Amino acid sequence: MRRAAGTTGGDNGDHDWWRDAVVYQIYVRSFADSSGDGVGDLDGIRGRLGYLELLGVDAIWLTPFFRSPMADHGYDVADPRDVDPLFGDLNAFDGLVAEAHERGMRVVVDLVPNHTSDAHEWFVAARNAAPGSPERDRYILRDGTGPDGAAPPNNWTSIFGGNAWTRLDDGQWYLHLFSPEQPDLNWENPEVWADLERTLRCWLDRGVDGFRIDVAHGMAKPPGLPDMVEPIEPQHGLLPDDVEDRRFDAEGVHDIHRMIRKVLDEYVGRLAVGEIWVTSDVAFGRYVRPDELHQGFNFRLAAADFDAADLRRAIDHSLAAVGDTGASPTWTLSNHDVVREVTRYGGGELGVRRARAMTLVALALPGSVYVYNGAELGLPQVELPDDALQDPVWERSGHTERGRDGARVPVPWEGAEPPYGFSMTAATWLPMPSDWADLTVAAQLEDPDSMLSLYRRALELRREHAAPDDAALEWHGAPEGCLAFHRDAGSLVCALNTSPVAVPLPPGDVLLASGPLPDDERVLPPETAAWLSPASA
Ligand code: NOJ
Repeated sequence: MRRAAGTTGGDNGDHDWWRDAVVYQIYVRSFADSSGDGVGDLDGIRGRLGYLELLGVDAIWLTPFFRSPMADHGYDVADPRDVDPLFGDLNAFDGLVAEAHERGMRVVVDLVPNHTSDAHEWFVAARNAAPGSPERDRYILRDGTGPDGAAPPNNWTSIFGGNAWTRLDDGQWYLHLFSPEQPDLNWENPEVWADLERTLRCWLDRGVDGFRIDVAHGMAKPPGLPDMVEPIEPQHGLLPDDVEDRRFDAEGVHDIHRMIRKVLDEYVGRLAVGEIWVTSDVAFGRYVRPDELHQGFNFRLAAADFDAADLRRAIDHSLAAVGDTGASPTWTLSNHDVVREVTRYGGGELGVRRARAMTLVALALPGSVYVYNGAELGLPQVELPDDALQDPVWERSGHTERGRDGARVPVPWEGAEPPYGFSMTAATWLPMPSDWADLTVAAQLEDPDSMLSLYRRALELRREHAAPDDAALEWHGAPEGCLAFHRDAGSLVCALNTSPVAVPLPPGDVLLASGPLPDDERVLPPETAAWLSPASA
């Protein structure tokens, strides 16, 4: 589990540190603002590393901080090898990495290889060049269909809503699986490969410990760009196993991951974790074969209801998906793209109780856990007013989908009112709720019953009771609506009750519970999880 990171990346003998790591996702815009412009930045993060050390995480993952016009808040990259002035500069980045390493935390950065910004010099050149030119060949441009080519080349829709094609002035169309400001790259062009390699080496040489790969199931496209079989809703998440999505998971994507892996293997202890939204376990497993990515985000746990049977199915699928690849599973309850867990599980006190219980489940599972900033504070999804919404999904969906801003509101650090120490200005990039005084880091550090205290204690116990990282999960028999498991003889037992009635606790001393347990009875109340000591279990 947590070990000291070297000062120049992960070269400290712990080469596969990620296998059971707890990785804290920092949505850079929303973590801490040092400059006072209402947007988080790299120096802000550096100033809060002490908090992350206290929390007890092994690594941080930074969402994109590269040069960008911010049409999709940094996932539209104009220069992947430089820092956007909004977030700082390369010196600030180097300082952040060095200090994180000194404090024993690894640093993972985002990589966005499926698309660039439309302000990237390549796309500016493509726009100005003629059809059929080498400039255009770096992107996916096609003539249209129908009379005068006025209809798009195929029926693909954008993940953010609307058509996936936009027409240029000369009549050709370019593909963008996300917003029109995010043109998809043509991965059949060798220049695109060479450029990604350059980007990888640029950050590896600066000492990063790994990459989170955006849309890792995208990039390569199926030959001939065949029509989608049936329309798929924007922001669909995980599709049922029998729905084919021709926009993603093309066979060619695996060669790209092999290239990435080859480059990483020249360095020591560097991670590649992919964002992989695929439907079947078999398809998922292909991304984490020994010569591809080390890990993939499996979103099944985040997609499951607070229901023991559903959760057990999600866990079994996630374990089966890595199967015998040798890769370690990953678990996450939320990220910057999904509704925060407190709200997803019902909101209010109920949502908090369930999110606390699920925290103990996720942190007891074999593999690594990715914690989204603010989850450790139990932040709910925020209902933002229409005029505050910034996610391109809001506009693209014709104001029918509110998008992801509600999960991206800045982190409250201290004080009784906005901006709660996040910034010097109250004009934060997304407004902060006026009733978050009890949710600040400062307030929760003082309170032994807070979500933050639960996280801290759970992370401490997770380290103390670490099982070998390849230890299999064993399910225990459990009453209706409950589940219980342990990882191997040495590790703790985790029991969860999602039923409406209290159930007997499994044997063993209670090490930690997500909610109050009665003094006079050995029971696990509804919406509660407990960790029990293995010794007497
Ligand atoms: C996945 C990222 O997590 C999301 O925030 C982004 O909008 C899309 N990829 C496009 O880059």
